[in-house]
Amino acid sequence: MANYNDVFAESVENPEGFWAEAAEGIDWYQKWDKVLDDSNPPFYRWYAGAKMNTCYNAIDRHVEGGRGDQVAIIHDSPVTDTITKVTYKELQDRVAQLAGALQSEGIAKGDTVIIYMPMILEAAYAMLACARIGAIHSVVFGGFAANELAIRINHAEPKMIITASGAIEGVKTLAYKPIVDEAIEIADHKVGKVVLFQRPFLQADMQEGRDLDWNDFVSGAPLADCVPVEATDPLYILYTSGTTGMPKGVIRDNGGHAVALHWSMKAIYDIDAGDVWWSASDVGWVVGHSYIVYGPLLKGATTVFYEGKPIGTPDAGAFWRLISEHRVKSLFTAPTAFRAIKKEDPDGVFIGKYDISCFECLYLAGERLDPDTYFWASNLLKVPVIDHWWQTETGWAIVANCRGIEELPVKAGSPTKPVPGYNVMVLDDEGNEVGANSEGNIVVKLPLPPGTLPTLWKNDKRFVESYMSTFPGYYETSDGGYIDEDGYVYVMGRMDDVINIAGHRLSTGAMEEVIATHPDIAECAVIGTDDQLKGQLPVGLFVLKSGVDRDVEEIQTELIKMVREKIGAIACFRESNMVARLPKTRSGKILRGTMRSIAAGKEYRMPSTIDDPTILDEITETLNEMGYPPK
Ligand code: COA
Ligand code: AMP
Repeated sequence: MANYNDVFAESVENPEGFWAEAAEGIDWYQKWDKVLDDSNPPFYRWYAGAKMNTCYNAIDRHVEGGRGDQVAIIHDSPVTDTITKVTYKELQDRVAQLAGALQSEGIAKGDTVIIYMPMILEAAYAMLACARIGAIHSVVFGGFAANELAIRINHAEPKMIITASGAIEGVKTLAYKPIVDEAIEIADHKVGKVVLFQRPFLQADMQEGRDLDWNDFVSGAPLADCVPVEATDPLYILYTSGTTGMPKGVIRDNGGHAVALHWSMKAIYDIDAGDVWWSASDVGWVVGHSYIVYGPLLKGATTVFYEGKPIGTPDAGAFWRLISEHRVKSLFTAPTAFRAIKKEDPDGVFIGKYDISCFECLYLAGERLDPDTYFWASNLLKVPVIDHWWQTETGWAIVANCRGIEELPVKAGSPTKPVPGYNVMVLDDEGNEVGANSEGNIVVKLPLPPGTLPTLWKNDKRFVESYMSTFPGYYETSDGGYIDEDGYVYVMGRMDDVINIAGHRLSTGAMEEVIATHPDIAECAVIGTDDQLKGQLPVGLFVLKSGVDRDVEEIQTELIKMVREKIGAIACFRESNMVARLPKTRSGKILRGTMRSIAAGKEYRMPSTIDDPTILDEITETLNEMGYPPK
């Protein structure tokens, strides 16, 4: 058994040696000139000069190595009452054919393709087919509204959008095609082609000349070979919420990503080729990219692809049914899913109905794991419950309990210790390292390990400003927290205007931008408040323009509608209230952090720069009336 301390020390003292060895897990057409090109910091390039193909590593090499008949993906869909198993050989055929169809339509290496799809197998085929021909995919989560999709179309400039007619979300049928049509209509960038997968329960209208039916598109298409790409070429762009309405286009490269994910499957998750692994997320989020699709396939494991919810499809036993039926070794999901199950089935009655003896470990991430949920899950499941912390930007865990290296004792409330490759530190606002147990800014000393963002799509400047400028030489995570005397990291929450709703990352700044367009509103602030089920929920406070004398309830209803229409239902924006004034600094900056503390019932220091402290009393009163802080 390896020793965590030694492995970690090796990774930070000799990163090139460490990651050259990990790169043996990937098949290369051509090896690198240099493991790490650090000639232009903070733009680091892993495996510069090397050539490979991510799809080859995720599919073809397993077929060639004798795993052709092994199930690669199990699609389990209680909402359509189907279970479909696809072997590695079948996956190779379907992906190669779709890739051939894409090539026939003129999609080539370096072109971008947007994928806007529910949790169906075709979403995975589309991602892998792009990877096969060196095209860059950008998956957009299906819960985003047309306006958000249009923002991404304008920025990614796709040649094509791949979509489906719709989804079943719990019990509701949602049409996706009208959203795609509207997004294309409002976007400035004109998309040439739309490939649409018609789902049996919902037929979408097709636009002559632009829209292609999936089945017609792939039928008769030649099988495409894997196209060698540079290790440093982009594999995908994944937009994630920043502090404004313009999301950040996180880029993932091919080589570093494949090495890191392949390595992480064993080191962090203790998964080997042939094991059954389930990540219950959505391909629209980073967890879906890394651990529904790429990670398990790069490893040669079987991945479960779940089109359902933790509760209601049909009940709070859904997770245990899947684990038992597919003999799942480990599950990865967000704590909110467990809070939802706990609410419906507090005594875990449903667990007893299934044989889950195959189940070895539960991994949770995406938001803070509250100790209550941790203890509930570990007491009932009687397997290790592992919290781990990461971000869309890193693509894989920064802090975790690396069970494949050495399982460390768990401390509730901490995701354990830095993952090898990540030299995690806590700095004060002046950039000095703080001592044990002192809170500050969590940063990672550069270089970041392979698989992390090399930059932002078409925006080196924003990359440097967002992550690399505040603390030169370090990656700024924007999370606050501390490291205890044993080296355990505690992540306490975002220091910026990003919030986490049911494990989904959203921007309060983006919601403010929508609300600010209401004709009666002079200014507004949206803050994240604590929620027992979803972790956080947004709350809006707005000031009316002078002379406006309208029913506040009417305005509140309009705001809910506007945020749903412009951002999407997943923003879960339901609560807002009118205030006479918003608290600001003398230079006019709204004191959102102070309002967040009031809503959470946390002590706060009166900001020395506050313009008029009496406004805080008014805000406290309004928030109290709204039920904040919760009793
Ligand atoms: N496409 C379209 N709409 C979607 C969607 C999708 N893929 N996913 C969610 N939505 C919509 C929902 O229908 C809902 O709309 P409504 O307001 O009209 O009812 C809204 O977005 C909020 O959805 P959600 O946050 O999922 O709330 P919920 O009350 O339906 O379910 C949970 C609550 C806890 C069961 C659910 O949030 C959940 O399963 N969370 C786990 C999330 C997860 O796995 N995250 C992993 C990221 S790492
Ligand atoms: P995303 O980019 O959507 O993965 O969201 C990343 C953010 O989610 C982080 O910056 C954290 O604020 C939060 N987060 C993710 N995992 C954890 C965790 N295990 N503990 C605490 N916060 C987490």
